[in-house]
Amino acid sequence: MKRTGEAIVMVTAYDHPSARIVEEAGVDVVLVGDSGAMTVLGYPSTVEVGLEEMLMMAKAVRRGLSRPLLVGDLPFGSYEVSNEQAVSTAIRFIKEAGCDAVKLEGGGPNSQRRAEAMINAGIPVMGHVGLTPQTAAARGGLRAQGRTAEAAERIGREAQALTAVGCFALIFEAIPAAVTAILMPMIEIPVIGIGAGGATDGQVLVFHDLLGLGEGPRARFVKQYADLHSPMVDGVGSFAREVRERGYPQHHHEYGIAPTELTALQQ
Ligand code: KIV
Ligand code: NA
Repeated sequence: MKRTGEAIVMVTAYDHPSARIVEEAGVDVVLVGDSGAMTVLGYPSTVEVGLEEMLMMAKAVRRGLSRPLLVGDLPFGSYEVSNEQAVSTAIRFIKEAGCDAVKLEGGGPNSQRRAEAMINAGIPVMGHVGLTPQTAAARGGLRAQGRTAEAAERIGREAQALTAVGCFALIFEAIPAAVTAILMPMIEIPVIGIGAGGATDGQVLVFHDLLGLGEGPRARFVKQYADLHSPMVDGVGSFAREVRERGYPQHHHEYGIAPTELTALQQ
C-alpha cells in the first residue's frame, strides 16, 4: 500500500463487538492498543494495564476478526527488562492471542534491541516514536514531541534505527506535521500517524475517540466521527423508565405454557 500510495487505515479494538464493527467498516489494520487501559478498563493511564489483561482483550478481538492485520500492543513492563522478556511476551501475543504482529514503544537503544530480538525470533514488530504514552511522565507528560530541530532529528534517527533492525511499520504520534513531512522521504517502511499530520502512509485513531464513546478532554488530533455516548445513555435510560413504569416486558416478550400444563400446575 505504501508503494502504490494507498492510505492505510488503522483503528484500535479491545473486544469482540468492536472487532466485528471495524472489520465490517473495512479497516486495514487493527491494534489492540494499551489505550484499552483507559478506554475500557478505566485506569488513569496506559502504565497500569497488565499483560494478562492485554492478552484477554487481544483474544476477544481475534475471535471477531478475520481479514485485517491484527497487532498486539506490548504493555509497559512486559518487554523493557531483557530481550528474553520481550521475546516471551511477544510469543504469547502471537501464540495465545493469535496476533499477527506486536508493537512496542520507543526508538532509543533499549527499544531497538528489544525489537531486533523479537524480529530475530520471527515476530513482526511495529515501532512507535514521537509521543510514547508509557514513558510520557519521563518527558514532561502527554505532549507533542519533536518540536525543536534537535528533538525532530532524534525522532528521525529513531525511525531509521527501528527500520534498520527490521520493523515492518512505525507509528508516529503527536509530531508537528512539518516535521513528519521532512522525515517521511527518509523512511522506507510504512508510517501510520496519529496527530502527526497528513504526510504519513496512513492514520490511526482510538475506537472510543472516533465514535464519541469516551469522556473527558480530547487530544487535539482526535476527530469525532460519531457521538455514540448519548444514544447509549438514552437507550439504557428508556429501559430503566419502562421497567419502573411497568411498561416492560409486554405480552410479546413473554413465554407461554400449554393450557393443560397450566391447569395441572394450578391443581
Ligand atoms: O494504544 C494505542 O491506542 C496506540 C495507538 C494510539 C497507536 O498505541
Ligand atoms: Na499504545
